[in-house]
Amino acid sequence: MTIHPSSSSPGISLGAQLLRRKSIETMVAQNEAAGSGSGLRRSLGMWQLTMISVGATLGTGILVVLSTAVPIAGPAVWIAFVIAGICAFLSALSYAEMAGSVPVSGSSYSYTYATMGEGLAWVCGWCLVLEYAVSVAAVAVGAGQYVNDAIRQFGFVIPDAWALPPGSGGIINVPAAVIVLLSMVLLVRGAKETAWVNTVMVIVKIALLVFFIAVAFTAFNAGNFEPLAPMGAAGVSAAASRLFFSYIGFDAASTAGDEAKNPRRDLPRAIIASMLIVTVLYILVAVTAIGAQPWTEFSSSEASLLTILNTVTGQPWIALVFAVGAVISIASVCLTVLYGQTRILYTMAGDGLVPKIFGRVSPRTRTPIASTLIVGIAVAITAALIPLGQLADATSIGTLFAFGLVNISVIYLRQKRKDLTRTYKVPLYPVTPILGFLFCAALIVTLGATTWLVFAAWMLVGAVVYFGYGRRNSVLARLSPEEYLGTATAAVYARRSK
Ligand code: ALA
Repeated sequence: MTIHPSSSSPGISLGAQLLRRKSIETMVAQNEAAGSGSGLRRSLGMWQLTMISVGATLGTGILVVLSTAVPIAGPAVWIAFVIAGICAFLSALSYAEMAGSVPVSGSSYSYTYATMGEGLAWVCGWCLVLEYAVSVAAVAVGAGQYVNDAIRQFGFVIPDAWALPPGSGGIINVPAAVIVLLSMVLLVRGAKETAWVNTVMVIVKIALLVFFIAVAFTAFNAGNFEPLAPMGAAGVSAAASRLFFSYIGFDAASTAGDEAKNPRRDLPRAIIASMLIVTVLYILVAVTAIGAQPWTEFSSSEASLLTILNTVTGQPWIALVFAVGAVISIASVCLTVLYGQTRILYTMAGDGLVPKIFGRVSPRTRTPIASTLIVGIAVAITAALIPLGQLADATSIGTLFAFGLVNISVIYLRQKRKDLTRTYKVPLYPVTPILGFLFCAALIVTLGATTWLVFAAWMLVGAVVYFGYGRRNSVLARLSPEEYLGTATAAVYARRSK
């Protein structure tokens, strides 16, 4: 099929348009030029990058979703954490290899653009909106529960009408919207300021979980693990799919390629370090929680970790401190994931696939202010109006697609670009990325039919946006294949993207 959509790429077939790739050399040259001039500022080291990934990962999954997984898996919920963790870890290794060989902003969207071409890169970028923007909304919804628990200690309670979305017995979820809007305001101030505040919040949440583990351990009863899996293997695997949500976010560091001081060295390390930290914490929290409270007493409608602390210590002030800490923990997920979303859109705007406003950087703060405001307000409205369960599943399917594509990208580049500098290589290649891909596919299959329908509708909207806007405005549409696959096109690319 031959089409003539853009004035500068007449006669290029649709297939060729979908398959056009951005050269890795161009991406790397653009990344090296970033940080100078009036673009984003290069201010993040290994420590801040690790904190961004931990910040984006540790939150609603362990503090809220755990309570909904225990009734499905029984005491074997910790095994469900291990299974979901293995799935996420295999993909994390692939992310680490890609981040070390294509050290740019844009995460899996950029990796796919360099390997499988514009069509799938768009699909990936569109999935990442589910992983990032929609997950911020889901995470903020989870925080509402703890906000109410915190203020209840002072004798107040937000009425359901203002603390729950329509469909869950309320009108609007005010706490969720407020948390998103506060994160947005902080992000506007700057990446360095955001990273600093995030680091403090991450330290608070790690301390909070370590405190929980220590307290719950004092009430440990090994008998609570009998029988281990009352709902059998099916229950454990269903819980693993649900708990996959709690690992989403480790890839957030890979959206910061243009703001990292040494992306090639630090991005892979930050991704792997953050995965190790959260996996160990999750398993210890799950084991001590079940040890302290029989699984039959877990209720999906309450903040179970808080209930356990209340029962074990009998001190209401401890519950208050924990609830406040939980809100801080969840707010840091909102902050870092919102950060990631704006940086992915920044990269996509530079490629011409989304409107330029998403790539506009304020000369004063060196942050994409307009994009941050648009994304922040859209996410706040979503968080205020849609229930957590629906949002969490939509997030998981989008993320699993993106992870699957990154596993394939590793295999593709190992075959096609043996010459590429790689600061990190996945162990046991090709077993690791193949298993990573298969695990993602298996978890996608276990998600319900409704989630699939939501996903199909989302992709349909994505197709309309791409064919209505991205395909025509893609910078690659203004370059010849010789130009965009050549090795010295960064300057040409920059000129044509204006
Ligand atoms: N992994 C993130 C959380 O659990 C989405 O909050």
